[in-house]
Amino acid sequence: MITPQTIQQITSRIDIIDVVGEFVKLKKRGTNYLGNCPFHNEKSPSFTVSPAKEIYKCFGCGKSGNTITFLMEHEKYSYVEALRWLAARYNIEIEETETSPAQKIAQQTADSLYAINHFAMDFFTKQYWDTEAGATIAQSYMQHRGFLRPIVEKFKIGYNPSDRDSLAKALIQNQFNPELFARTGLVVERNGEWQDNYRDRIIFPIHNTTGKIIGFGARQIAKNDRSPKYINTPENEIYVKSRILYGSYFARTAIDKANECLLVEGYTDVVSLHQAGIENVVASGGTSLTIDQLRLVKKYTQNLTIIYDGDAAGVKAALRGLDMALEEGLNVQLVLIPDNEDPDSYVNKVGADAFRDFVQSAKKDFILFQLEVQLKEVGNDLNKKNSLVNQMAETLSKINKAEDFTKLQEYVRKCADILRIDETGLTQLVNKFKRDKIVKEEKKMAYDEAAILMPSFQNETQELNNIDLVLDKDLLHEKNLVRLLIEYGNELLEDGRLASTWIAEELESFPLDNPDMIQLVKVYFEWQSEGKMPNNKTLQYHVDPQIQQLVMGLFEPEHELSLRWNEKLGIKKIVADVTFHHDIEVSLLYYKLRKIKKMIRQNQDDMEKISGEEQIQLLHIHKHLKDAERELTQIIGTVIFK
Ligand code: UTP
Ligand code: MN
Repeated sequence: MITPQTIQQITSRIDIIDVVGEFVKLKKRGTNYLGNCPFHNEKSPSFTVSPAKEIYKCFGCGKSGNTITFLMEHEKYSYVEALRWLAARYNIEIEETETSPAQKIAQQTADSLYAINHFAMDFFTKQYWDTEAGATIAQSYMQHRGFLRPIVEKFKIGYNPSDRDSLAKALIQNQFNPELFARTGLVVERNGEWQDNYRDRIIFPIHNTTGKIIGFGARQIAKNDRSPKYINTPENEIYVKSRILYGSYFARTAIDKANECLLVEGYTDVVSLHQAGIENVVASGGTSLTIDQLRLVKKYTQNLTIIYDGDAAGVKAALRGLDMALEEGLNVQLVLIPDNEDPDSYVNKVGADAFRDFVQSAKKDFILFQLEVQLKEVGNDLNKKNSLVNQMAETLSKINKAEDFTKLQEYVRKCADILRIDETGLTQLVNKFKRDKIVKEEKKMAYDEAAILMPSFQNETQELNNIDLVLDKDLLHEKNLVRLLIEYGNELLEDGRLASTWIAEELESFPLDNPDMIQLVKVYFEWQSEGKMPNNKTLQYHVDPQIQQLVMGLFEPEHELSLRWNEKLGIKKIVADVTFHHDIEVSLLYYKLRKIKKMIRQNQDDMEKISGEEQIQLLHIHKHLKDAERELTQIIGTVIFK
């Protein structure tokens, strides 16, 4: 954690014109500055930055915020990443609280790995451009494949010569720590000495989203069946394959602009398409997509278009990611490249314009594509068709966000049509899978809670862990609600009330337990009554660093919080602003349900301790609470399935 003092130091140094000006060309207009909005396409500038108020606002698309939110939106940084970026810019040393020795070592290791990688990248590009072997072997190979100088330079592509240890020697000479060599994968130890691992290969550095080099892909030049075509960096502190999409650093702005992310398999596909002017493209490295990669895409766009070779293996690999993509609410399209070509060879063959046209016309909906492929396999076998219908219904049940409801209906209609079955029947089947999933999650929750109520079940330490877990879950609900209050409290409801009034009323009947959250809500309403506009942007700069910290905590791991919602509770978190009403509604329901469950538990504890008349009273209360619980559960059901 960054200390509050450091945060204050950073926020006091912020110069919004300086920071935003780094990314947007700004012109002075009166007291404000004006530029073309970086968040939407526009010809005449409507993006206004006010240095006095330290905010920006676009009168075209409505985006607004402060310096930190700008970095978060534009650079897709987390709150902490934005702070680090600013600290680096203003030469502020970051003080951290409570880093354990282990965390410190991990951080130092990561820093060293970045440094080694950066050095290696420089080494490889020098070898590529400035040596005889680079020119005759690497440059001519790349030229032969149609890669021109500007694109090779942009992607920092390089060359590792065929000598035994040219990079190894350079690393040692520059006094990098040999204990980390093996983890970088750049060199290997043979017979007690360090040797290069990527000998005679073209080197593709892999940038993370902030531009640091986390690893490399090394392609052989001379075909050699005894070694793999590509050697990749082994998993280490900074290279985590499941979270990497090659090219994401160079594709960010283009994906934002196009509101679409193209996904290909290979390094060369990304580079070739870039060279052809198609820049909204990333590569998965030929394996099936992971949930983290999908989330990375979702940071930029909901629209994912997978462009693969027509061969079966690649498509199968891609299909495996499908259900997860649906759960993430992504719209997935599929394009198959014909004639044993891949995107790289195809764009080289037909040219950029024809490639674009082809992608547009060949786009198929992923779900319907999958259905058609499988329907062909089924033939006339009724049993097989039955299980296909079930499988399809299960797949469709993963589309479970309220805002995706129309999309789901559309799919049900089309799938029923293709399968030649009754649409209502398919809808019912889909709903059954949805319910099953929720029931399963509820059961799991009930089980967790039961385990705590029956200590004999477990030994002491486990019991403690579980109590932590439950407390944590309670806190999760409270935090979520307070986050919604801060985020949407100033929004108007249909009946003209403020959303904050609605939440305040509910909190009166079901008060918060966590002292931090209570404190935050207090501050919120204090500000409101003083006529200040409390929201996540303003409260982040509250004079009390503890409040800053709390607000930050609510918004910083935004991602994580909603992730855990989904996992632990099966709650469909709504992201879009327009649905804040539904988001608050559902969150309040779950919040209240938890409070009631807690009351039931406490009441049961009390019942065990007493007898007679009083126990009967408690039994009444129990019944009352149970009714309320049932009613809430029912409402939750209708809200979610409506
Ligand atoms: P391909 O074999 O399709 O290679 O593998 P490519 O990207 O088209 O490369 P060129 O055009 O032949 O140079 C697709 C991706 O799978 C991963 C790499 O990420 C590659 O870009 N791969 C492939 C490996 O990691 N190791 C291998 O041995 C082969
Ligand atoms: Mn290729």
